[in-house]
Amino acid sequence: MNTSNALVLDFGSQVTKLIARKIRELSVYSEIVPFNTKIQDIIKRNPDCIILSGSPASVHDRKAPKIDSKVLELGVPVLGICYGAQLISKMLGGRVEKSKIREFGPSKLKKLSQSKILKNISSNETSWMSHGDTIVRLPKSLKVLARSEFGSISVFSSKDSKIIGTQFHPEVMHTSFGKQFFKNFLNMAGCKPNWKPSKLVKSKVDELKQIIGKEIAISAISGGVDSCVSSVLVSKAIGKNLQSFIVDTGLMRYKEVEDILPSLKKLGVRPKVINASNLFYKRLKNVVDPEKKRKIIGKTFIELFEKEAKKSRAKFLVQGTLYPDVIESVNVSGPSAVIKSHHNVGGLPKKMNLKLIEPLRDLFKDEVRVFGNALKINKDLVGRHPFPGPGLAIRTIGAVTKERVQLLQAADKIFIDILKSKNLYNKIWQAFCVLIPIKTVGVMGDERTYENTIAIRAVNSVDGMTANWSRIPHDVLDLISSEIINNVKGINKVVFDISNKPPSTIEWE
Ligand code: XMP
Repeated sequence: MNTSNALVLDFGSQVTKLIARKIRELSVYSEIVPFNTKIQDIIKRNPDCIILSGSPASVHDRKAPKIDSKVLELGVPVLGICYGAQLISKMLGGRVEKSKIREFGPSKLKKLSQSKILKNISSNETSWMSHGDTIVRLPKSLKVLARSEFGSISVFSSKDSKIIGTQFHPEVMHTSFGKQFFKNFLNMAGCKPNWKPSKLVKSKVDELKQIIGKEIAISAISGGVDSCVSSVLVSKAIGKNLQSFIVDTGLMRYKEVEDILPSLKKLGVRPKVINASNLFYKRLKNVVDPEKKRKIIGKTFIELFEKEAKKSRAKFLVQGTLYPDVIESVNVSGPSAVIKSHHNVGGLPKKMNLKLIEPLRDLFKDEVRVFGNALKINKDLVGRHPFPGPGLAIRTIGAVTKERVQLLQAADKIFIDILKSKNLYNKIWQAFCVLIPIKTVGVMGDERTYENTIAIRAVNSVDGMTANWSRIPHDVLDLISSEIINNVKGINKVVFDISNKPPSTIEWE
């Protein structure tokens, strides 16, 4: 049976990736391409349906992103979301106007008639709106199926149901019936729920064998899920010709290297461990500026990497790049601001003549976990929370010394172990401790103490782009606090970070 395929044309919305995710959660394969992908290339992909995303642009902009009108004539169902819906109605002769009031936030759906696209969705369910333009008149070929609680056109369809538009965003979790909405659309398009990420394992291994042949590939394993899964996959394809290594920066979690080595070895991956902690600490001495820390770590890592690569005579470099990093974001509103310079080794291959191998570039994070399970990678390793490249240096606020990092590691281990023992670890997207450079007065027994403060951070998120602080029960917080203070000498205060992203970020630096 052919795998069904839902193609998303991206107009640059912040939440386009969530469309593909939502569809893949329904076991239908979905990929994202830029809005201006040539019609021949769209046809080549043989999509069962097409989805037009939202956009920060307005259909009235001089340079408003457009599509070839043939997209609407391919005969496959097309769903326009927000900007996508406005664009369709304008292209077919309707009228879109700047709204007097921007409709933003929840809005109750007011159904006007029964339809396939709104099957099993009731009136008054919550939809999520975010638009400055409004469709004020539909072309004759389209019919209103639902309005928002403020009366604006919320859902429309063509008579043959081949063209659907929605002003709300079904892809965001605030739309309570989003999943059902996509399910209805995929059913209308005849898509079969026949895709799961583990299906890709065998074909990936075969493909890697073909590409790498008898050459050597190198990979740097960080302890994170992505680099582990991609290395195991490549090792399945080329065995000993994969030369992997772990740079022990001294900034990793408590006994991280010792923890991951046995499970990797079981799967035939035997990374060389490069102990570089002294070098990292030397270079970070007296550095407190977060961006400087990040730059120094990135540069040192690259230096060590280059040294290894030269020794190996490798032709390929394995990277754990994921789908969200790959999708070329469509620039319709200027480059977004750099909040933190995330460290990666993307610049390396050009300089060193290494070809990139990115076996996970089609997958989202949770799909990588499914992949990892299919490869029989240890569950603890596969289920690990994300960890930033610069490691504990950016969680040790202020000066990064071995002693301070060890304090942080000890507290972090206690925190994480308690979350695991209370079955909370897998429900939280990311959790960790931060060492704050503030000492406070405490009392232990009859003694006065003047010691360090630890912050605990735990967030729920889908992909790290936005996050809400996790509601850890009070009794668990109490246990975490007393266990850390009683067992980590040098800490006498624990605080809980209750900020969301945005406006905060997940990491502190
Ligand atoms: P922020 O702090 O930007 O973090 O909200 C979002 C997610 O990204 C991780 N993170 C990094 N990952 N290299 C990485 O590979 C980095 O430099 C880096 N900085 C932050 C962070 O842990 C969170 O999961």
